[in-house]
Amino acid sequence: MWLAAAASLARRLLFLGPPPPPLLLLLFSRSSRRRRRLHSLGLAAMPEKRPFERLPADVSPINYSLCLKPDLLDFTFEGKLEAAAQIHATGFNYQNEDEKVTLSFPSTLQTGTGTLKIDFVGELNDKMKGFYRSKYTTPSGEVRYAAVTQFEATDARRAFPCWDEPAIKATFDISLVVPKDRVALSNMNVIDRKPYPDDENLVEVKFARTPVMSTYLVAFVVGEYDFVETRSKDGVCVRVYTPVGKAEQGKFALEVAAKTLPFYKDYFNVPYPLPKIDLIAIADFAAGAMENWGLVTYRETALLIDPKNSCSSSRQWVALVVGHELAHQWFGNLVTMEWWTHLWLNEGFASWIEYLCVDHCFPEYDIWTQFVSADYTRAQELDALDNSHPIEVSVGHPSEVDEIFDAISYSKGASVIRMLHDYIGDKDFKKGMNMYLTKFQQKNAATGEDCPQWMVPITISTSEDPNQAKLKILMDKPEMNVVLKNVKPDQWVKLNLGTVGFYRTQYSSAMLESLLPGIRDLSLPPVDRLGLQNDLFSLARAGIISTVEVLKVMEAFVNEPNYTVWSDLSCNLGILSTLLSHTDFYEEIQEFVKDVFSPIGERLGWDPKPGEGHLDALLRGLVLGKLGKAGHKATLEEARRRFKDHVEGKQILSADLRSPVYLTVLKHGDGTTLDIMLKLHKQADMQEEKNRIERVLGATLLPDLIQKVLTFALSEEVRPQDTVSVIGGVAGGSKHGRKAAWKFIKDNWEELYNRYQGGFLISRLIKLSVEGFAVDKMAGEVKAFFESHPAPSAERTIQQCCENILLNAAWLKRDAESIHQYLLQRKASLPTV
Ligand code: BES
Ligand code: ZN
Repeated sequence: MWLAAAASLARRLLFLGPPPPPLLLLLFSRSSRRRRRLHSLGLAAMPEKRPFERLPADVSPINYSLCLKPDLLDFTFEGKLEAAAQIHATGFNYQNEDEKVTLSFPSTLQTGTGTLKIDFVGELNDKMKGFYRSKYTTPSGEVRYAAVTQFEATDARRAFPCWDEPAIKATFDISLVVPKDRVALSNMNVIDRKPYPDDENLVEVKFARTPVMSTYLVAFVVGEYDFVETRSKDGVCVRVYTPVGKAEQGKFALEVAAKTLPFYKDYFNVPYPLPKIDLIAIADFAAGAMENWGLVTYRETALLIDPKNSCSSSRQWVALVVGHELAHQWFGNLVTMEWWTHLWLNEGFASWIEYLCVDHCFPEYDIWTQFVSADYTRAQELDALDNSHPIEVSVGHPSEVDEIFDAISYSKGASVIRMLHDYIGDKDFKKGMNMYLTKFQQKNAATGEDCPQWMVPITISTSEDPNQAKLKILMDKPEMNVVLKNVKPDQWVKLNLGTVGFYRTQYSSAMLESLLPGIRDLSLPPVDRLGLQNDLFSLARAGIISTVEVLKVMEAFVNEPNYTVWSDLSCNLGILSTLLSHTDFYEEIQEFVKDVFSPIGERLGWDPKPGEGHLDALLRGLVLGKLGKAGHKATLEEARRRFKDHVEGKQILSADLRSPVYLTVLKHGDGTTLDIMLKLHKQADMQEEKNRIERVLGATLLPDLIQKVLTFALSEEVRPQDTVSVIGGVAGGSKHGRKAAWKFIKDNWEELYNRYQGGFLISRLIKLSVEGFAVDKMAGEVKAFFESHPAPSAERTIQQCCENILLNAAWLKRDAESIHQYLLQRKASLPTV
């Protein structure tokens, strides 16, 4: 019998079932990860994969009876498992690799039902995987630990022996033996709580049996928490658990969750199947959040909102994450992907419907426009690489599974669903959802056969009616010619109304020229302005058009009022700035940034005006940050003045202004500014404020301060999951920072790799740190480093980074001179003030 191996060691094994085995043997091994040679740069094909076999179907679990007893002081746990199993066939395979354990029996098992009993012990590790410990400080300043879980994708096996594959579903009876003054939670509601016979300080908490479910969705938490609770309109008991003393900060998420559950119930026409749902903030947490059935775990920053100290973008983020994880309760938990190859069914769908849900709860967020800058363009960017991958990708070994939690599964998945939804309409889409969820409930689903050639819906609009498609076609062959009739010569013609279709558009110069007035006078709708600019930017990066063309288009955005349009433009200008930081005319591009952003900066000012809302707050933060970073004099002076008042306690900065002000003063500050920021960090009680500071530290320019920030990144002051954004911030902060961050990663590789045990945070760290290079030889250096320091879960990311470095280098070679000339010429032609 094969089980995915628990990291814990089985002490005693007993198989009760026909026939009783005279001898048992547990073979256990963690895989010896193979070193794969990175293939030559730029080629799309992945290195040949080692064959990986799924668990055999001859024995499968029906119910797990699982009892865990964590020790929060010596960081171990004891467990007892009884798995009622159905034996479908007899005979065994023997393979002890790939994180699997093989149980061998001296005599053949017969078909029927049996019980497998295993006692085991394990470590409450500090790797944010499996059953692990999470550090927190009590209100009185004492450091303590909670015991929490993160099983997706392949780490339930670290906590208990199990058939750790999403398609092998079973029910679970879970009990936890915990100190009596601790909160103990699991997927289901508590059905019994009694003193533990061997120790008067402990209690045994027993939870109701779960529905049939996959192992990666099992969860338990033992720690100290406060909570707020409500009952949703559809009768589900909803609680938000927060650190002790911070229950107030759970109210926003509670409201969102209570509104979201009935919304999904109505949309899917399928009720939420459990009696309760808990949402809990976990201090040390690798992902943003995790959808464990009935017990959703979150980073503190993805769940907690303080009315005074949380900024608008945090509120929006919490709403999106809550919407995302609650969608998984149906899409993922009730119906689960058959194998990780179909991960996009889970993540693509949740990443799409989280917007539908937030649009329902907060129409004023104009969240669908934000989808385009956050997901659609992100997906297009990654998908433009040779080293992209299909949405549905074959995966085997756990390290390959970790790799696909990326912008393709999430953002491209969501974009393709948005395109489909737009094409078939909400009514039929909703019907389809219900059919899918009803047909596959408590089971698994896979993507059906796609013919290899996609049909792509194409829309065309004109200035006659910018919000209406004049022509809709379904492109079902590689090439099509379309003639648009009755278009007057002074009209513009735009493809991809609403930037819904997942494709790029290239216009002739004449067509592009005619679209510019539509940008200036805003007659082109916001998502179309955004999409047009983004397409052009990507075409420039690919060398299809000149970057100067894009700069000219960017200048047409003088009257732009829309936050999301600015946000995307700002992001692209950021990419260009990073590229040009490799040249000696970096200052000129900063001048350009200042010119583009100052009119809107002046219109907005520093303080909110009556009647302004969420999007104005986001826009103000974005614009002031951009101007401050680029060294816009008036912005810099005001930021310094406000920062001083903030630090002296005279006038506390509003939450929405903190990031732009911190960034501005640090970038143009000295060692004293950095020290003040580090002090603010230490004093901050909210993780959101700590993160806000951590993310801007990399803006500091002086070499010894950069070093100080890097050392800080690995210190006890920074939570393990946040180290990535501090180092990433340094790499993205400046030319010197980029080099220093890369050296730091090489020098501290072992510690960093060990901290995340591979996993997706390593991929994120590598991506943030190296993809800004723009010299060919750096691609070689990165490749060579990872050949001698393998990171199996980041192989594809490393290939993507190397490809990006080569693309940057080519871009620079191709366009740097003409950009420089354009900027000089522009400067000369501007009126001097
Ligand atoms: N299922 C994931 C959590 C996860 C991510 C597990 C990566 C294992 C590896 C969860 O539903 C998720 O997608 N979380 C996102 C946040 C979401 C709002 C996009 C995350 O963690 O970034
Ligand atoms: Zn998800």
